[in-house]
Amino acid sequence: TLDLGGTFTNIKIQPTMYGIFFEDINFAADGGIYAELIKNRSFEFDEPLTGWKQQNTKTLSPNLDSGFLTIYSDDSKTNKNYARITVYNDKNYILENEGFRGIGLHKDAKYDFSFNLENVSGNISAITASLTDENGKVISTVPILIKGKGWQKYAAVFSLSKTVEKAKLQITFTGSGVVNMDMISLFPQDTWKGRKGGLRKDLVQKLYDLQPGFLRFPGGCIVEGRTLAERYQWKKTLGNVADREYIINKWSSGFAHRLAPDYYQSFGLGFYEYFQLSEDLGAEPLPILSCGMACQFNTGELVHLEELNPFVQDALDLIEFANGDIKTKWGKIRSEMGHPQPFNMKYIGVGNEQWGEDYIERYKIFEKAIHAKYPDIKIISGSGPSPDGEFFEYGWKELKKLNAQIVDEHYYNSPEWFTQNAGRYDAYDRSGPKVFAGEYAAQSVGVVKPDNKNNWQTALSEAAFMTGLERNADVVTMTSYAPLFAHADGWQWTPDLIWFNNLQSYATPNYYVQKLFSNNKGTDLIKISENGNAVKGQNQLFASAVKDRKNNEVIIKIVNTDSQEKSIEINPKNIKLGSKLTKTTLTASQLLSENNFETENIKPFEENSVIKNGRFTVEIPANSFVVLKIK
Ligand code: AHR
Repeated sequence: TLDLGGTFTNIKIQPTMYGIFFEDINFAADGGIYAELIKNRSFEFDEPLTGWKQQNTKTLSPNLDSGFLTIYSDDSKTNKNYARITVYNDKNYILENEGFRGIGLHKDAKYDFSFNLENVSGNISAITASLTDENGKVISTVPILIKGKGWQKYAAVFSLSKTVEKAKLQITFTGSGVVNMDMISLFPQDTWKGRKGGLRKDLVQKLYDLQPGFLRFPGGCIVEGRTLAERYQWKKTLGNVADREYIINKWSSGFAHRLAPDYYQSFGLGFYEYFQLSEDLGAEPLPILSCGMACQFNTGELVHLEELNPFVQDALDLIEFANGDIKTKWGKIRSEMGHPQPFNMKYIGVGNEQWGEDYIERYKIFEKAIHAKYPDIKIISGSGPSPDGEFFEYGWKELKKLNAQIVDEHYYNSPEWFTQNAGRYDAYDRSGPKVFAGEYAAQSVGVVKPDNKNNWQTALSEAAFMTGLERNADVVTMTSYAPLFAHADGWQWTPDLIWFNNLQSYATPNYYVQKLFSNNKGTDLIKISENGNAVKGQNQLFASAVKDRKNNEVIIKIVNTDSQEKSIEINPKNIKLGSKLTKTTLTASQLLSENNFETENIKPFEENSVIKNGRFTVEIPANSFVVLKIK
């Protein structure tokens, strides 16, 4: 028997309790949610022809039959490179782009194709753009007439009558002459909210369905960079996308398991777009900024304390960008980008996953400056990776002394660790900082191992653990699984919440656990106990309960990690229950079962019934997570 209520806890579940961690790892942004289909669209990668091929040539040598391509640079620009194409002898010269592990095209969909071109000399009066399937067969073609001199933007629309997962783009130049080209771009028209140059709809929909309380961006380690020069600099991600400076993605190397040397950040998904996405999702924006420390797993480069000011200023300017009046410098830039209304940002993170004295002394400087100007902004500080080590203890001790507001903890650990730690926050100091469980995921093999699976065992252990997060909602106010996305052909890190390829995506069992918690977070914590004790693993049962004041519902979450079904009696004490019971069950045939692109076998199913007299009994299947909603 589980007793419900009995003590009024008076603890609110924060609207931010379950959120999203977004990082451009595993092709999450470029090649993923940012719907651009052309890789290296403006030749800015360190190897400017990465992703591009001259179809009927073997080298860049000018002594060719049909033509050649040379990269030119304009150093006055942030986006310097462009391609000069010289075509000889009235032959066809073909330039081909491979996309991000191919270009995904859907039957009956339309695609916006565009490029900038300068007609330099000679007579190239038309080019033909084609999309080809995996066998090199042309499946759609658009002819484009070239007119006038000077740089001009050209656009055309492809219509598709076939679905192709790994298509290519070919541009054929006919005639003899010289043109310059840049920003060669291909976007589906059917993006999230139909925005031009926007985000991939199926992927954003999955985020929307989570009803996340916050969106943390842009990471993760890419905030820090392998070197300080490669850190994420939000100011460089604003304005016209063609002018946003590329950098190599941290996840192209380092301890990334599947190295992707062709992984760059175009910043087409930049800070404005992150704020806009937060707004679309109804989630609080939670940007995390560099605190002047490069990733300590890489170079660990440090900015001297006396030189930290530009970094601190970046944080202050970001708050002005998000919240400032349109008369302010940064508020004006936001307004010019299309959002005169403030984004109403309430949180900012100082450093991603830093630790030690170096972090604390930098945090202090940020905290002082931010709160002097913006006392209402809540600051997230970090406790470093893998809790419970020496650095973690030190970080927490110091941050407590400094009255830090919210401390970010990251833990990637075994499923056993997660079930054994359902009581992790029971003894946390109620008068200390709040906890942001900002990155966590159960690892089926081990941390940063390439073959971790998103199997049911990992998801079930996370569900068990999450009842402990919820029971401690007075201390834990924000939580997020990490990483969020992974491209099936472009990942570096496993496990991940949502997997996708160029055409489809699927939700893992871990996703459904997150969704059930987030969609049923309620507003007020209710006590649930067995013989007066919190239900945190006795008889392999875990439980938490909330009231949803808006919908007048009581919601009970029960996790059974036993291989036997359990019959549980719910005994309401001092709580009046309604009579409509909705039971949602998430389970799998085996602990090692997984979802995949073909089928989502592991997903919640609902049953409705009527209960009488308050007390009722429910069956909780073996190895299952059950949500009971009573209205
Ligand atoms: O989520 C993957 C990585 O794990 C994040 O970038 C980093 O913060 C952590 O080490």
